[in-house]
Amino acid sequence: MGIATAQAAANIAFIKYWGAKDLDRVIPSNRSISMTLSACTTRTTVETLAHGAADRILARDSAGRLAQAPESFSARILAHLDRVRALAGVAVGLRVATENRFPAAAGLASSASGFAALSLAATAALGIELEATALSDFSRRSGSGSAARSALGGYVEWPLGFDEGQGHATVIAPAEHWDLCDLIAIVDAGEKAVSSLEGHRRACSSPHFSARQVEVQRRIDVVRSSIARRDLATLGPVIEEEAIELHLIAMSSRPPIFYWRPSTLDVLEAIRALRGRGIGAWSTLDAGPNVHVICEPADALAVNEALAALPGVTEVIRDRVGTGPRLIDEPVI
Ligand code: PMV
Repeated sequence: MGIATAQAAANIAFIKYWGAKDLDRVIPSNRSISMTLSACTTRTTVETLAHGAADRILARDSAGRLAQAPESFSARILAHLDRVRALAGVAVGLRVATENRFPAAAGLASSASGFAALSLAATAALGIELEATALSDFSRRSGSGSAARSALGGYVEWPLGFDEGQGHATVIAPAEHWDLCDLIAIVDAGEKAVSSLEGHRRACSSPHFSARQVEVQRRIDVVRSSIARRDLATLGPVIEEEAIELHLIAMSSRPPIFYWRPSTLDVLEAIRALRGRGIGAWSTLDAGPNVHVICEPADALAVNEALAALPGVTEVIRDRVGTGPRLIDEPVI
């Protein structure tokens, strides 16, 4: 029937999604806000096969070859293809070819960009054109809540969305509103031992989880208004608090989860030292050891130099706010 290729970028959350009211239906415990990136992207091609044919999932491996993906990687993709077929009312097989275009093997969470790209490419291949908010809701149903935010560009808020069709995120400011940079200090490019999905599952076992639900309400308002005013001096401390709290909850979950490496702390300290020299740079982390440093373009060079000088930092990825997923003409082959 068709073929389509989509590209979508990862996002970095300023207010984190960590813990769910209903993990199966991907209903988060709290609202979240993120910035969609532009360099850390996933590119995915979906092609229709014959009626009833078995799906095929190919992924670019570390040697650069497009190869049959391992089952651990394909299971969630196959489940999402069933949702796409149900939406389109067809029973054709689908061939998926996907690659992460993150500079080097960054070990960064790619489920958000991956499921946003898959949702866009698969619906387009089956001739379905989804509005941006419908694409966001559909991407979320993959099980990766943050994919709801990567389905949109700029600065994005994902609310609680209990009712059917209300699970989508919304753009609170487009990318052009504020050109913020994200310099990602890689301290460990390996795969993390505990998935985000498992982290969400354990989050509510932390004694700090309920206190967070109160705090996060206040932070959401501060983040929203400081984005509107392009006020990094107010935004910065809140995003750092958020990241530390996510890891505090992970470390105090039962059983505990430790995502940090010793070098993670070195990066956090170096960024505090930079602020002492008058440079407006603030750290945040996802469920992993690598540190995202948010700053204005005028400070990006100084931040890059400070990060690159740290012995535990193997690579610095320079990214910035991006405009969201799109269909492209270059298939993954
Ligand atoms: O979208 P998930 O289920 O992979 O969870 C994302 C979790 C964090 O990246 C740690 C936080 C966030 O809001 O992106």
